[in-house]
Amino acid sequence: MKVLVATEKPFAKIAVDGIKKEIEGAGFELALLEKYTDKAQLLDAVKDANAIIIRSDIIDAEVLEAAKELKIVVRAGAGYDNVDLNAATAHGVCVMNTPGQNSNAVAELVFGLLVYAVRNFYNGTSGTELMGKKLGIHAYGNVGRNVARIAKGFGMELYAYDAFCPKDVIEKDGVKAVDSAEELYKICNIVSLHIPATAETKNSINRDLLKNMPKGAILVNTARKEVINEDELIQLMEERPDFKYITDIMPAANAKFTELFAGRYFSTPKKMGAQTAEANINAGIAAAKQIVGFLKEGCEKFRVNK
Ligand code: 3PG
Repeated sequence: MKVLVATEKPFAKIAVDGIKKEIEGAGFELALLEKYTDKAQLLDAVKDANAIIIRSDIIDAEVLEAAKELKIVVRAGAGYDNVDLNAATAHGVCVMNTPGQNSNAVAELVFGLLVYAVRNFYNGTSGTELMGKKLGIHAYGNVGRNVARIAKGFGMELYAYDAFCPKDVIEKDGVKAVDSAEELYKICNIVSLHIPATAETKNSINRDLLKNMPKGAILVNTARKEVINEDELIQLMEERPDFKYITDIMPAANAKFTELFAGRYFSTPKKMGAQTAEANINAGIAAAKQIVGFLKEGCEKFRVNK
């Protein structure tokens, strides 16, 4: 059995070593395709792979068609919007993710970005503090929970909205659960996005939602760029010179944001949320173990294409 690690943005070496140990320990072969720049390289590498570990790498119908021997794809991470689930199901390929394994890393980056933003991108002027500010957590999954835990240390007032998480689960963490996204954005000085990119959420963060945020509002996005309605965010930021947008996922209109909103817009050059040795080890090794469990025992825990 051949397991391919296909990562355009590679894991830390220590994580790759751990993956290798798991895969070879199970008697399988490991192949590595890191830092590839061309889809043709991926199409070639998947030809004889029985299993693939990926990150944000795109597994579409063409890749699945080329991977004739493929049985399983594991997205080492949370969001699997980069995998064509219908095509995978049609090809009889199991798709899994590794929920929770990189969530602390992403949550820590939220605060890295936030401190940078409230201190005016370290330009020497007086900024503000996070203590006492109202933080809205939009979606209370693994990352949202870690954001809440860290925010308590900063002395922030916490609110959350999650259409799928029961209110009592949120409130037992000392976080006020509100009834709608509209309410969350109206109340909170800062909103941190943790929704997945789905047909329902794409473009859902729009002017209507953001326009009621209090003066000096900040939107921080460590989720997906697709959930933002970029045209409407640009319009809103033109109307509201007090509004800041900071993101770990560069918008399609990055050049425009950079040109128009100097001093209140920042994007990391490459998605950095899960780029820690710890997160790479946790997610990468979990992915390797899930592949071994699936190929040896048929274990389908964490399957996302039912
Ligand atoms: C995830 O969905 O797990 C995060 O967005 C991290 O993605 P990455 O592995 O591409 O950094």
